[in-house]
Amino acid sequence: MIRIYQEADYAAMSRRAAAVIAAEVIRNPACVLGLATGSTPIGAYEQLAAWNREGLLSFKEVRSVNLDEYKGLPGTHDQSYRYFMNTHLFDHVDIDPANTHVPDGLAADPAAECARYDDLVASMGYADLQLLGLGNNGHIGFNEPCDCFVRETHVVDLTQSTIDANARFFASAGDVPRQALTMGIGCIMAARWVLLIASGEAKAEALYRMICGPITPACPASILQLHGDVVVVGDRAALEKVVAAGVSVCE
Ligand code: F6R
Repeated sequence: MIRIYQEADYAAMSRRAAAVIAAEVIRNPACVLGLATGSTPIGAYEQLAAWNREGLLSFKEVRSVNLDEYKGLPGTHDQSYRYFMNTHLFDHVDIDPANTHVPDGLAADPAAECARYDDLVASMGYADLQLLGLGNNGHIGFNEPCDCFVRETHVVDLTQSTIDANARFFASAGDVPRQALTMGIGCIMAARWVLLIASGEAKAEALYRMICGPITPACPASILQLHGDVVVVGDRAALEKVVAAGVSVCE
């Protein structure tokens, strides 16, 4: 089942998303959070850090597993997802850094690293709450559109659309890594519940295909129609096509 919250704009979307994550942490202080990077969750992470500072929320016992990492980037690189998580969330909350996990983009044996990551996430009992952003092309994690859903953590060739979308974070499109290690659809679907956030009109088509379209690996996020417990928080621009299709949303 997919429950959809429509918010006016990015700020309201971020606050609602942070509230959903906070609900999990308050209910289960030792939860496993599956976390995402990208521009969409930054506002939610800022809100979580603020609530942590104010003493409303503690991450002391929380463990986290991130979705993905660029292949070839060290965690110290300012565009690596490890660096992103440290600077946008982990450095600002009371989480134990030893309890935070991101695939190792520098692993000498990427296939072994993927297998290790799957074993790690399984040993933690999978995510209690999995946070997801949405690619303009419908990807979740870096599960790119293709002709089958890939269950395991794997090395993926990024599509041109993803390289172009992420070029804004690098000096040029040529600097965007061409490959990434990503959690597969299996780990994502094994999460107890899922929060997917989306903002802006660039996401409107992908969000429509995810919610209203056929379940197909051509739109990897559409697999979430088969998950029993999904919350989508989107702003008006991102939800425009979904609302126009007559799907009911909570305000
Ligand atoms: C990041 C990730 C990606 C992003 C997606 C949207 O860990 O897994 O799926 O969530 O590319 O990125 P933004 O938020 O930058 O539009």
